[in-house]
Amino acid sequence: MTGNLIDRHNRHLNYLRISITDRCNLRCIYCMPDGRLPKLDHKQILTYEEILRIVKLGVKLGINKVRITGGEPLVRRGVYDFLKKLTEISGIQDVSLTTNGLLLGHNLEKLQAAGIKRVNISLDTLDRNKYRMISGYDHFNQVWQSIIDAWQKGFAPIKLNMVVLKGINDNELEKFAELSLRYPFHCRFIEYMPIGLSGIDPDQHILTPEIMERVSRLGKLEPVANDRNDGPARRYRLPGAIGEVGFISALSHHFCDSCNRLRLTASGKLRACLLSDQQIDLREPLRRECSDQELIELFHQCVLSKQAGHHLAENILIKSQMSKIGG
Ligand code: 5AD
Ligand code: SF4
Repeated sequence: MTGNLIDRHNRHLNYLRISITDRCNLRCIYCMPDGRLPKLDHKQILTYEEILRIVKLGVKLGINKVRITGGEPLVRRGVYDFLKKLTEISGIQDVSLTTNGLLLGHNLEKLQAAGIKRVNISLDTLDRNKYRMISGYDHFNQVWQSIIDAWQKGFAPIKLNMVVLKGINDNELEKFAELSLRYPFHCRFIEYMPIGLSGIDPDQHILTPEIMERVSRLGKLEPVANDRNDGPARRYRLPGAIGEVGFISALSHHFCDSCNRLRLTASGKLRACLLSDQQIDLREPLRRECSDQELIELFHQCVLSKQAGHHLAENILIKSQMSKIGG
């Protein structure tokens, strides 16, 4: 059995997001609240060879877009050699990376040499003190410098992700959007998703309609046509802007109908949905050197389990931690 990955709701899955580590050099309040989450043991984490085997099989099944996430992917040793091997797999059209930017500045050339052309960087605030409050570390200046360096070295597009939280960074919505006037960045507002343990209360959630209303006080938001690789962000441009603003709304606006994603966790679980705890273990079969056919069947099994939509609105709790699934 080969054939493309098409689920029961006729969605074609061509995008694999891969978490290569659950470790991180920050402790964002909405992700790793107290930093005391149990860490995966090295043996529990897929080796790069195991990941590459899965990706190559995925490509045979129609995967042509890959994103590397974590935890923080740049903390894993050997990541640049791995990325090079990944971008060299024929059939993959797009490999990108989501990072907190801390280790980015000094490694931009290595990333470029590995064939990475664009990055998504988490940036929840433009205020140094608040950055320390949210992430646990006083590294705002370093991250901002990495963003500027990445831009000057030609990475494009550079997408900046702000997880919006009431009482924490919602007083910076306009300031964040205004970055798109001066820089060609895609400034994206992300609704907080209640996943795993976190220090966030329901009354700190802000939904996209409110965020958009605030941002549109800066000027009329002109929609930008989505291209095929866009994913769930709804894109707009402020008048005269060289960059864009985007809104990612898992809660207020179901984008499940057009979801084209599968996820591979750091410990080798294949997940059909970020917002469901169902997963299929690939590590055990990989480690007993199973056949390609067996892995392909597991891929199809996972795809067929993909549900039509998520149930966050019904207060279903997702137990897995974001840092293990990879966002
Ligand atoms: N809800 C929404 N976004 C989150 N991220 C991490 N945890 C959450 C959450 N609970 C974001 C990070 C990063 C991206 C991978 O996901 O800030 O930008
Ligand atoms: Fe690290 Fe990203 Fe989680 Fe922050 S949100 S602790 S940067 S993995």
